[in-house]
Amino acid sequence: MRTALNSHMKRLFALLGLILLSASLGSCGASKPKPPPPPLHSGPVRTSNNTAYRTPALHGPVPRNPDMSLPADFAKGPRLSFSRVAVNDKYIAITFDDGPQPQNTPRLLDMLRARNIKATFYMVGSNVDLYPQVVRRVVAEGHEVGNHSYTHRLFSKMSDSDIRQELARTRDAIVRAAGVQPHTLRPPFGGMLPRQREWVNTEFGYPIILWSVDPFDWRRPGPSVVCARILSSTTAGSIVLAHDIHRQTVDAMPATLDGLLQRGFKFVTVSQLLAMQAEKATAHTAVGLPIP
Ligand code: NI
Repeated sequence: MRTALNSHMKRLFALLGLILLSASLGSCGASKPKPPPPPLHSGPVRTSNNTAYRTPALHGPVPRNPDMSLPADFAKGPRLSFSRVAVNDKYIAITFDDGPQPQNTPRLLDMLRARNIKATFYMVGSNVDLYPQVVRRVVAEGHEVGNHSYTHRLFSKMSDSDIRQELARTRDAIVRAAGVQPHTLRPPFGGMLPRQREWVNTEFGYPIILWSVDPFDWRRPGPSVVCARILSSTTAGSIVLAHDIHRQTVDAMPATLDGLLQRGFKFVTVSQLLAMQAEKATAHTAVGLPIP
């Protein structure tokens, strides 16, 4: 979901990032001196910008997401697009885009499993075809898989027939790999015209899933920054955007996931989050926030 920002936004974001970072870094593991490495674990993981960062090893119990049996069948409502969902409790959905990736995705799955967290993976169809065994593991461990196109091109500049082909090809690749159908769509870069959202929703049944928390992890700001940005921006009903193709993002996850659990957030899949919106909509009136 790489998005281009103009220079003003870049400066603003850099400033915001500094403020958020200083506020939240404490729980993201960078401000504390690192203990010596335990003898039973491997050495530090070196990130691409060459700052030593060690993925915290599991030395004992980690915070655990509660066991929940929640409906995932969402009713088709008046809204097509969601960047967050109005919920009655501290439910959130974390999403990982652009994979699967043969090293980082399995490492992330270990972290999620240790914490009983179910996530949603917006997979690129070409990667599904390359690494079907990773897709199978994602599904076997209870995570949701969504459609993120086959070649990750910007839909708003594509013809209807090309979009149709991208979506069908990815859906078929996921079915072939893991025997499940994707139920939601995240358009590459979040870019999709209202008219395209309409016909895709009618034809494929997909609601369009955007996000409300964006750590800009694709710019590789370092695991501590990714963690701090997510912790400082997540609220009840948030949809968190991250990318499991980047090692730094996965390096950021132990502290990020633990921080969110310690703040009382409960992780659900995107379809479970949407089902809560549907329940709420039938009980009251449909509540929706504007899409970006
Ligand atoms: Ni993407």
